[in-house]
Amino acid sequence: MTFERMPLEIWFDDHQFEVDYDIGESGTKFLTVKELEIDLNEVELRYGYHLGHPSLRKEIAKQYKGNSLDNVAVTTGASEANFAIIAHLVGPKDNIIVEHPTYPSLYQVARSLRRNLTLLKLDWNDGFRPRMDKLRKLVKPNTKLITLTHPNNPTGSVISKDELKEAIEIAEEAGAHLMVDETYRDLMFDPPPPLAASLSPIAISLTSMSKTWGLPGIRIGWAVADRPIVEAIRAVREQVTICNSSLGEVIAKEVLHKRHEILPVIRKAVLSNYKVVEEWMGSQDWLEWVEPKSGVVCAPRLKRGGSTDELCELLVKKYRTFTVPGSRMELDGHFRLGFGGEHEELIMGLEQLRKALIEIHS
Ligand SMILES: Cc1ncc(COP(=O)(O)O)c(C=O)c1O
Repeated sequence: MTFERMPLEIWFDDHQFEVDYDIGESGTKFLTVKELEIDLNEVELRYGYHLGHPSLRKEIAKQYKGNSLDNVAVTTGASEANFAIIAHLVGPKDNIIVEHPTYPSLYQVARSLRRNLTLLKLDWNDGFRPRMDKLRKLVKPNTKLITLTHPNNPTGSVISKDELKEAIEIAEEAGAHLMVDETYRDLMFDPPPPLAASLSPIAISLTSMSKTWGLPGIRIGWAVADRPIVEAIRAVREQVTICNSSLGEVIAKEVLHKRHEILPVIRKAVLSNYKVVEEWMGSQDWLEWVEPKSGVVCAPRLKRGGSTDELCELLVKKYRTFTVPGSRMELDGHFRLGFGGEHEELIMGLEQLRKALIEIHS
């Protein structure tokens, strides 16, 4: 088969629905239509504009200095935009550089399409920050796309404004594009760097309603890019999903319209959860970590070393607690701990994690 299943998604599909405590999810608490108080009764369940409703695109474009709705393609999650952009920009003989670790589809699409893939590896010793000197050395004459994910999933590391500018410069010099997955940008603990697409026509911003906003079920994401890329996304998506869910678009537009009311509430909850994780990490003896600088995920590892498969499986099966083994994200020895969900569930989940750690160390 050309497309193989992603180990991360298999793990989710197999286990996430059978646990009591989910401390592996990579987003904030899932919201309900009721909580959002959005009246969907009159929404016409029709096909929509293929790039997304203009009013939604306009709402999105407001955030990206120098861009208009013509630069916005709203897609079925960031995943669809990622697929379309790689398929369009990276031909069979071209090279793509993908920061690693990251959400696996960013590199898996390139593998599935049999593109020449180079990984820009993030290192524990660099605090999982991308090294621009390393990136520069990886560029080849046929490099057409470089992708970064910051804030990073699963490590929670962030990129600085200067690093972002340097990455754009490297891509420009190579005649390539730079795509930055900014899905977690609104959840940075410190002020974020500028949105990539607002800095250069060769920079593409990718993001999603799935993580910060707790709305993966509406399947809405988008890319902000130069017009030819937006057109290419439209061409790809017309062959796959045609357009977005009409319900999803209405919800996304309402939420973005009220972002200044909703975001502070979400951020407050995330920061209060993070405090719990920070204290918990300080109170245990078996794990070490690079403290995340953002988002709702981090990637601790066992101090004694070795795989975390046994730990995560024990957690699911005996302690009914969901985390993600690093092996599912090509980050062996670590596991993903998510702290975006319900406060009480996080506390209970960490307690289960403590019990499982005692068990595997005894
Ligand atoms: C960094 C990152 N980008 C993109 C995605 C895919 O998001 P979507 O639900 O919008 O397709 C994920 C999902 O985990 C992610 O973590």
